[in-house]
Amino acid sequence: METTNKIPKLTVVGAGPGDPDLITLKAIKAIASADVILYDALINEELLEYASPNTEIIFVGKRKGCYVYQQEQINELIVNRAKSHGHVVRLKGGDPFVFGRGAEEIDYVKPFGIETYVVPGISSALAVPAYQGIPLTKRGASESFWVITGTTKLHQLSGDVMLAAQSTATVVILMGMSKLAEIVEVFKSQNKLDVPIAIIQNGTTEHEKAGYGTISTICKIVKEKQLANPAIIIIGEVVNKRVVLSSVINGLKDQSTAI
Ligand SMILES: C[S@@+](CC[C@H](N)C(=O)[O-])C[C@H]1O[C@@H](n2cnc3c(N)ncnc32)[C@H](O)[C@@H]1O
Repeated sequence: METTNKIPKLTVVGAGPGDPDLITLKAIKAIASADVILYDALINEELLEYASPNTEIIFVGKRKGCYVYQQEQINELIVNRAKSHGHVVRLKGGDPFVFGRGAEEIDYVKPFGIETYVVPGISSALAVPAYQGIPLTKRGASESFWVITGTTKLHQLSGDVMLAAQSTATVVILMGMSKLAEIVEVFKSQNKLDVPIAIIQNGTTEHEKAGYGTISTICKIVKEKQLANPAIIIIGEVVNKRVVLSSVINGLKDQSTAI
């Protein structure tokens, strides 16, 4: 295998939720100094323009529902490229430690003597509701929020959804669209038929779409509006407490009144 004089290192970088301006300065510096970038499907490809022309850029995400690389192959690619090229940047959507496998990749490469770093990112769990004017906490409406994956490693609904449904917290569910009917049943079982719920697809991007309803009505609304992945589900009184935003951010038209 080809080797380099450079120190092999991995930086796991959060690219933010979609709007290319929602990236940190530190993330941009990491991208600019990368010898190799491995990036996922939810990355805004405009961000790759920060890379140097000599950087090798490899897409390792899902295309048309199929993984181009399995996780084991990505792990091996990181190790091999770090040894042969030096600095590998693993660019991930949102924050790499929020349902992003960032920690798994660091755990994998560490025993190979590769230096490891992380650059946190703005998670879609926070930014996507914010761009719709939804505050995850608001005095008098919500004192906390849960961020839960809808689908576990075994493709089942997370048991935490039932625990969260028993609380008064705002509930944010990622990767939950295929389990929406089950999620609705959980909230119905807690007599929360009238609790407000929002579903936001492609949040913070020009393709953003949103649907609003209650636990009783949301499945019909999702069908009518044809909402699909990638989407975030937000459940709680704060959905009705959203603020009206007037700013046009990065060419996005005002979405705050899209009900
Ligand atoms: C594998 S998780 C990665 C989450 C990411 N690490 C983060 O912090 O945002 C992917 C899921 O995040 C949610 N997601 C990510 N970006 C989104 C966006 N721009 N709009 C809506 N949902 C998004 C969707 O639920 C999607 O299925």
